[in-house]
Amino acid sequence: MTKAVITGVAGFVGSTLAETILRDGIYDEVVGIDSYTDYYSRSLKEANLNRLDSARFKMVVGDINKVDLEDLLTDAQHVYHLAGQPGVRSSWGEQFQIYTNDNVNATQRLLEACRSIDTLERFVYSSSSSVYGDASAYPTTEEMLPRPRSPYGVSKLAAEHLCNVYAWNFGVPTVSLRYFTVYGPRQRPDMAFTRFFSATRDGKELRIYGDGEQIRDFTYVDDVVAANITSAQISVEPGTVFNVSGGSSVSVNEVIAEIESITGKTPLVRYERAVSGDVRRTGGSSRLASERIGWSPRISLKEGLTRQWNWINRP
Ligand code: UGA
Repeated sequence: MTKAVITGVAGFVGSTLAETILRDGIYDEVVGIDSYTDYYSRSLKEANLNRLDSARFKMVVGDINKVDLEDLLTDAQHVYHLAGQPGVRSSWGEQFQIYTNDNVNATQRLLEACRSIDTLERFVYSSSSSVYGDASAYPTTEEMLPRPRSPYGVSKLAAEHLCNVYAWNFGVPTVSLRYFTVYGPRQRPDMAFTRFFSATRDGKELRIYGDGEQIRDFTYVDDVVAANITSAQISVEPGTVFNVSGGSSVSVNEVIAEIESITGKTPLVRYERAVSGDVRRTGGSSRLASERIGWSPRISLKEGLTRQWNWINRP
């Protein structure tokens, strides 16, 4: 009997992971938990789960800070911890409490509960490229000093440190995956590509923060899902950290040009002030993940953008 637990299962990456592991029959049982926070519409998250009608899937609606975790985790081999408060630019001010609660406290509570789960073989934590801030070199490698530029990045790094602390002290078999700007079907409504494609389809103006010359290493969602599954299955030392980066090094302006070529429509662009917390450039080396677990990104930016556009236009 094999069991996986996915936290944040109704989200963009969590739901794609759930669909993939159920389709591929990797586990006898998959338990998903989500608290349906109000960061974006619940109906979008419920729609993400529409296709999970497998008898092997069980859904728990609840908050990791409150639910009975022993009940949730008992007999689990793999925990995929994707729940959290996302959003780099909205983590200032009073909002930060949500980030400490949902990213730091929730992760600590989950790790504490994992100490007594004897069946547990891997705890995969969804970390973020935002832990690096403006990195000292590109492509950035995992051992470079993380210096987040946003409170969000601070919360993701704090939770990553908690994973390491529980690994080193109690042997909780954690691995942290630093995702670099994930995109593809179901991407969150606050993220760049969803906004850019929707505005272009509807003939509305889209907003670019700053001069559009900021560079991102965009990563296709199926590649991120594959990194999760692989890092759960292949043995690595508890406390290992991997970059999960798509390998693109493109500016937001270059993305807009690509969107024009894919959609055949001219995006209406308005430039606005840069937003605090945004970094100038991200770019990750995926060499360590390639060497240690055989993971490399497969989907090019052009292919991934085309898939996202087709999904946005689905009937
Ligand atoms: C994304 C996710 O939102 C974070 O949760 C994640 O942790 C982070 O990636 C990461 O890699 O660590 P971000 O890179 O800001 O954060 O992703 P997008 O929202 O897709 O933005 C990409 C770029 O487009 C940013 O420079 C942003 O300023 C810009 N942007 C975004 C705009 O110019 N206009 C918009 O309307 C939205």
